[in-house]
Amino acid sequence: PAKERVTIVEVAPRDGLQNESRLVATEDKIRLVDLLADCGYERIEVTSFVSPRWVPQLADAPAVMAGIVRRPGTRYAALTPNMRGFEAALAAGADEVAIFASASESFSERNINCSIAESIERFRPVAEASRHRGVPLRGYVSCVVECPYEGAIVPAETARVARLLADLGCYEISLGDTIGRGTPEAVDAMLAAALREIDAPKLAGHFHDTSGRALENIAVALERGIRVFDASAGGLGGCPYAPGAAGNVDTLAVNAFLEAQSFATGLDSEKLDRAAAFARSLRSTA
Ligand code: HMG
Ligand code: MG
Repeated sequence: PAKERVTIVEVAPRDGLQNESRLVATEDKIRLVDLLADCGYERIEVTSFVSPRWVPQLADAPAVMAGIVRRPGTRYAALTPNMRGFEAALAAGADEVAIFASASESFSERNINCSIAESIERFRPVAEASRHRGVPLRGYVSCVVECPYEGAIVPAETARVARLLADLGCYEISLGDTIGRGTPEAVDAMLAAALREIDAPKLAGHFHDTSGRALENIAVALERGIRVFDASAGGLGGCPYAPGAAGNVDTLAVNAFLEAQSFATGLDSEKLDRAAAFARSLRSTA
């Protein structure tokens, strides 16, 4: 029988590089994206159109978008916190945009300088514009189980924020264990709550491996019917709250794990090895 498909969304160029203390040259970012596209990804998150004061690592977003070689079949996505970011992303040629909320009020304030409710109002025009222009809109929820400032997050709160993003028109909501402290038990409880609001095909898992449990959490999510996972080539990303600790789960590990469970990811393993080796060479602690 044909293997069941699981999609890996590659986030190294964005979530990975935004968390590396070292500034990576624009041409290296472009090379990374091109090497990744060559692996056969359907979706690559390339960069963010956010304030360069907040995320200096991605200040060259337009230049990166302009430099990449478009592979047919790959969608190149960018994070857009507001209308200004949305317009800039589209001008730069983004195929897809993502808005990002948080399940934790404190994290929302520190990350995007507004409350959860205010963030939804800021995203509303972005959602309307993306619908109008026919641009796929993805939504993120950060701190779905743990917040660095508030500790444990109630599952119903994560589910509520995910629902708000779905109501704005996001075709998929990526649930982020932003600091990688989620246990499989906590992740399972969170997913149970989220699934009462949103069907599994519209959810994605975004796990960080800071505590070494990302693959266990992916297993729990697979069990719950989720078939899309974010991962970062070379494990790029680290964690700003835990120097030296692993950040985003490594794409190679996720791909091997899924293949061992007889899922098909559609990625070329040899090319993935090559892209991951290049990604590792960009790490601040390489
Ligand atoms: P603010 O200060 O509330 O907004 O920031 P503002 O409108 O007053 O603007 C402040 C400054 O930013 C101004 O410039 C604006 O012009 C500029 P200044 O006067 O200081 O020179 N600005 C912009 N510049 C470029 N592009 C824009 C833009 N908008 C305003 N689009 C804001 C609000 C959202 C802008 C700010 O807080 C911000 O940029 N935050 C970025 C946060 C971020 O990117 N975090 C990382 C991504 S989230 C994440 O990693 C979690 C996730 O991966 C899931 C997981 O891992 O679990 C998704
Ligand atoms: Mg992340």
